[in-house]
Amino acid sequence: MLDLKETFQAHDHSLLSEDRQGEVIVKEGLRGIQPNGKRFYIESYGCQMNFSDSEIVASVLCENGYVSTRDYNEADLVFVNTCSIRENAEQRVRNRLKNFSVVKRRKPDALIGVLGCMAERLKEKFLEEEQLVDIVVGPDAYRHLPDLISEAESGQKAVNVLLSREETYADISPVRLSSNGVTAFISIMRGCDNMCSFCVVPFTRGRERSRNPKSIIAEAQDLFDKGYREVTLLGQNVDSYRWSEDPKVRGKKLIELKDTDDVFNFANLLEAVAQVSPLLRVRFSTSHPKDMLDDVLYVMAKYDNICEYIHLPVQSGNSEVLNRMNRTYDRAWYMNRIDAIRKILPNTAISTDIITGFCGETEEQHKETLSIMQEIKYEMAYMFFYSERPGTLAAKRYEDDVLEVDKKRRLAEIIDLQREHSIARNKADLGKTFEVLVEKYSKRSKDDLCGRNSQNKMIVFPKGDATIGEYIQVKVTDYSQAILKGEIIA
Ligand code: 5AD
Ligand code: SF4
Repeated sequence: MLDLKETFQAHDHSLLSEDRQGEVIVKEGLRGIQPNGKRFYIESYGCQMNFSDSEIVASVLCENGYVSTRDYNEADLVFVNTCSIRENAEQRVRNRLKNFSVVKRRKPDALIGVLGCMAERLKEKFLEEEQLVDIVVGPDAYRHLPDLISEAESGQKAVNVLLSREETYADISPVRLSSNGVTAFISIMRGCDNMCSFCVVPFTRGRERSRNPKSIIAEAQDLFDKGYREVTLLGQNVDSYRWSEDPKVRGKKLIELKDTDDVFNFANLLEAVAQVSPLLRVRFSTSHPKDMLDDVLYVMAKYDNICEYIHLPVQSGNSEVLNRMNRTYDRAWYMNRIDAIRKILPNTAISTDIITGFCGETEEQHKETLSIMQEIKYEMAYMFFYSERPGTLAAKRYEDDVLEVDKKRRLAEIIDLQREHSIARNKADLGKTFEVLVEKYSKRSKDDLCGRNSQNKMIVFPKGDATIGEYIQVKVTDYSQAILKGEIIA
């Protein structure tokens, strides 16, 4: 069954390996640092946060004299940064690990390391299940990689899956792995405290913690100075970002905060990053409907360089299912947030995540997901059927009782409806002119360039005199479900 997010990520991933700038990393890795003669290869799966984490890993390794390679056959260290969000994401990693056995056959000293969410979820068990693996490192232990590598080099298996309440890697300057030199991710927080009942993330990425805003703004400024023109602020739940110089205040839950507490929240951060330069576009992901309040929307309205695009996962259109999912909002609250976006930011594109076939979901409840989609007509959606994850609240509390045939049929209905909406939304853009930030050459033709408009829609156009990294005006002349086509307006 087609799983759009998986397809999208696989596609993204292939982009990464194609675009990966090995030489750039080598140079950055070597600046002032004595190479140790060892090469590492890293491959990432899953969400943008994982791709961003791989840039931290690359930085830690380069700082210790390792040099990157694009070819795993020549690597001394092969790392896979893994995802646990659904069963099939884990399966894909296991299959990929099999490919790496050739590395060991050719080079018996080569080491294979598993990073990220699967490492955290399975811990030492990974070593029993996959004989090939030498190193297992959870998302909060990347600073310890050089020691873990030494341990593995001495013949022992090395594991560090300790989660931290403080680690944000704020002082580590990421090595941009898949860089087009124009767009970059900035991680603003780690972990998640929400405990949605279906989700493994709070277990694999630990408690939520925000990064010092000074280091975030400095990173945005540095990227801008290096020629980047777009940053995406990343967190599992960006709306609950908050910083205080006082660690006691920092540790408080949102409801425990007093008016007198001095807190720098997501609206403040968004504004500060937007002020780096009007030429630096700012995006963010992911918003949580329960925490996305009007203050963020008003900041978006105030700055032209904050993009008019919000990813607001709904998960289900039925309030009872939302309650079982522990999303802590109902359908009415979600619709209220959509109305607020439409009122304050009328040109904003909205996308979502949907899970179908969650425990106990009836046919009627499924129809409510279709009806909320009809009501909102999302520009785009990532759609999944429910995949039970060991250890989650849902796995403990509820039976995974929707038959697989029903899950698949419901997902197909959701995908079909979304296709209609995406096409209708794209058709409505025909004839409109948008400001586009030129990102790269089109995959299909070297005569075409492509870039996004503020609404996050990719537009492909004949290159003319345009150069990568500049803003141009493009008039839309054609569309498909996934992209727009256009021509440059002088
Ligand atoms: N099964 C299916 N989809 C899931 N997601 C998270 N956990 C699961 C699961 N167990 C989806 C949610 C989330 C997105 C990142 O992945 O829609 O928003
Ligand atoms: Fe998972 Fe919910 Fe946190 Fe998203 S907000 S990472 S779905 S627990």
